[in-house]
Amino acid sequence: MTEKFAVIGHPVAHSQSPALHQAFAAQHSIELDYSLIDCAPAQFDSTVMQFFATGGRGLNVTLPHKAAAFLLAHQVGMRARLANAANTLYYSGEVLLGDNTDGTGLVRDLVGNLQLDLRDSHIVIIGAGGAARGIAAPLLGLWPARLTIANRTVERAVALAENLSGLGNVHARALDHLQDERCDVVINATAASLSGQIPVLNLDVSGAIAYDIVYATRPTLFMDWADQHGAAASHDGWGMLVEQAAESFYLWHQVWPDTRPMIDDRKAYAR
Ligand code: ATR
Repeated sequence: MTEKFAVIGHPVAHSQSPALHQAFAAQHSIELDYSLIDCAPAQFDSTVMQFFATGGRGLNVTLPHKAAAFLLAHQVGMRARLANAANTLYYSGEVLLGDNTDGTGLVRDLVGNLQLDLRDSHIVIIGAGGAARGIAAPLLGLWPARLTIANRTVERAVALAENLSGLGNVHARALDHLQDERCDVVINATAASLSGQIPVLNLDVSGAIAYDIVYATRPTLFMDWADQHGAAASHDGWGMLVEQAAESFYLWHQVWPDTRPMIDDRKAYAR
């Protein structure tokens, strides 16, 4: 029987997840139905329960529902707990499980696809919202010498850094107090790119790798800014998107998809 999967978000029409999951499934001759579900926050819980009650096997959860998915799950894995957010929901027996593959997806892109060795490096995350929370702990798992969380509202950066203090050498900064910060990799995890803005920061990015977790068909404003300020390279979040989808696919099907075709030829998959 063809199994039912979907991505749920608001809006969701732009999502690449159906194309990615269908391509992964084709690699393994798995037949699946993968649809888009657009639902407003007030209807999230009932829409999810309806999906699973009518034979749904797994859901990817995107903005703005990741925190609600975390709360709805009966059990959450460590990755979701560290992020306070879930992007993958599925049943195991009677138990609705919530997991978060975003941070792992970023790490797999940085380490696997971009071949970066981040041990002993200096990583700067810009932003301290949900997206930053999802990637901070997995990045600390790479043993950087220092992880700096920089945010416009410094209190949020302080709170997040305190939360993670047991996991590594992590510090909080305001965006305008980054002048003395060493930086090998800078990751834009703010929502600024989505509204055509860039975070204003005084960070020396010369020679650094810049990464914007947003996926875009053209370089983002943040990537342009980094290039103009001497970054060694700048990347958008396409690889992270592909790899987080692959992680979810693995959770559901217990087989690893090959992400190389999507990484090498994004035009064939990205809309
Ligand atoms: P998300 O879940 O997408 O991370 P969020 O929790 O609302 O969304 O957090 C948005 C993040 O983007 C925050 O770190 C926010 O900074 P503040 O905490 O100071 O609001 C950051 N952000 C959004 N627009 C920004 C801008 N124009 N410049 C700098 N930071 C911005």
